[in-house]
Parts: sequence; C-alpha cells; structure tokens
Amino acid sequence: METLLSERLEETVRAIRSRVKWVPEIGVILGTGLGGLGEKIEEPQALSYDRVPHFPRPTVESHQGQLCLGRLGGRPVAVMEGRFHLYEGYSAQEVAYPVRVLRALGAKALILTNAAGGMNPHYAAGDLMVITDHINLTGANPLIGPNDERLGERFPDMSAPYDPELILLAQEAAWENNLRLHRGVYVGVTGPNLETRSEYRFLRAIGADAVGMSTVPEVIAAVHARMRVLAVSCITDLCIPETLKPTSVEEILQIARRAQPALSCLISKVIEALPL
Ligand code: HPA
Repeated sequence: METLLSERLEETVRAIRSRVKWVPEIGVILGTGLGGLGEKIEEPQALSYDRVPHFPRPTVESHQGQLCLGRLGGRPVAVMEGRFHLYEGYSAQEVAYPVRVLRALGAKALILTNAAGGMNPHYAAGDLMVITDHINLTGANPLIGPNDERLGERFPDMSAPYDPELILLAQEAAWENNLRLHRGVYVGVTGPNLETRSEYRFLRAIGADAVGMSTVPEVIAAVHARMRVLAVSCITDLCIPETLKPTSVEEILQIARRAQPALSCLISKVIEALPL
C-alpha cells in the first residue's frame, strides 16, 4: 500500500505536468457553492477530474469537478473546483488524495473553503469564519494505515494545524476590504444528514463554532505533508437548537453563492500577500 500510494501520486503528477505549464506555489480547494474564485484565474489551464489519473470522481452536482492551474494574485496556483466528501462513500485517504497531489506538484500552502452551519449565536447566515482549530468527529483519518515517511511523519503535531500567520493575514485582508470575519473552531462530521438539535447542543458544548462535512481530512493530510494551511468557512445556516428551522441544500447553496464574491476577494488578497 505504501509504494502504491507514492506510485499513484507519481503517475497523477506526471499526467498533470504533461498537460499544464504551471508549477503551483499554493493549492486551493473550493467548497460547496463557492466555486467563483476559479473565474479570477489568469492564463488558466483546466483539467476535468475525469482526465486526472487516480482522482476520485465527484458525485455532488453542486461541485464542478476540475483542477484549474494558473495565476491568481500574481502567484502560480492550483485550484480544485469541487472536492470529495466522506458522505460520497470515499475513504478519508481518497478524500485527501488531491491534497497530496497538490503538495507533490509543488504547493507549499493550502487554502480551503467550505459551507458550514453556524452554532455560535453571534453568527449570521452569510458570515465568513476563519478556522482557528478543528475537532475531528468524522471517525476517519487519512493517515490511518502504513506511513510513507517520504510524505510525512507518523505522528504529526496538531498544536497549530491552521497557520497563525495566515490567519492574521486573512484578518488583515478582511479589515482592509470591509469584510466581517469571525474566528472560530470547525467540527468535522461525515453527514450527509444535517444534525439534530441535540447534536448541535453537543457540538457547541464541546467547543465548536461551526459544523461541516469536509475540510478536516484534507487539513490532516496537509499538516502531515508540512503545508501551511488556511481555511475559511461560509456560514450558510444557523444551527441554534432553541430556534432551529428546517433548512435545505438549496438554501445552503443560495447563501454560499451570495457570500462567494466576498470570500473570493478575501482569498485572493491573502494569496497576494502570502509569504512562502
Ligand atoms: N451541518 C449543518 N449545517 C450545515 C452543514 C452541516 O454539516 N454544512 C453546511 N451547513
């Protein structure tokens, strides 16, 4: 399995490099309804996921499913428009595979976005939250199994998975561009159902501000690969047990799409200023 993973990675990277000229410094993974950043890429070279060997196939309609390389904020980037989720039936290793590909292509930093439910009573739908830490409640982990030392160490430290300097950069960019940006803890779950009131009460009590079905497996793989990580959630619905209203994926998508320009602005400003 150990050699298999690195062999697969080599094949994937070889295939991408044979088709695109860009060597990315920064990898970006865009979340549900938040694909708009891709349109800002200059000199784009896009590869549909079905043309990338060993990439999983997206099963979620709201995700585009392409890897777009090019220049953003003056920097070479590789942007994943659409990600993979545990609820699609993929293992944590499969969900995290593209992160390892981004790393092997040359990216030293990873920026992720996602749609999340807000449990902090100070949040409103459409707000943005920079993730300061996470709680992994998925029951899964992309590092389970034999460890390939070439990819990272067996027991990676998790005292600061989200880079404090990048968090500060995001806060400065928000301030300069008049965007409201909370700081908060993200709890990762598998979904696909949204949570019950009692689950929200529990997730809030254990210290989370927002809940979502992505990001955590990818961040674990990125930390393992010693990438600098920044992640920003778009709060798409409020998950306060006492006042919980039914919500739907359509409403979540609508709010995400509305917040998308602000989030894209924030991410591109961070990319411009990102030290590597
Ligand atoms: N839970 C609740 N609300 C959400 C989620 C979630 O995982 N993702 C987006 N909104």
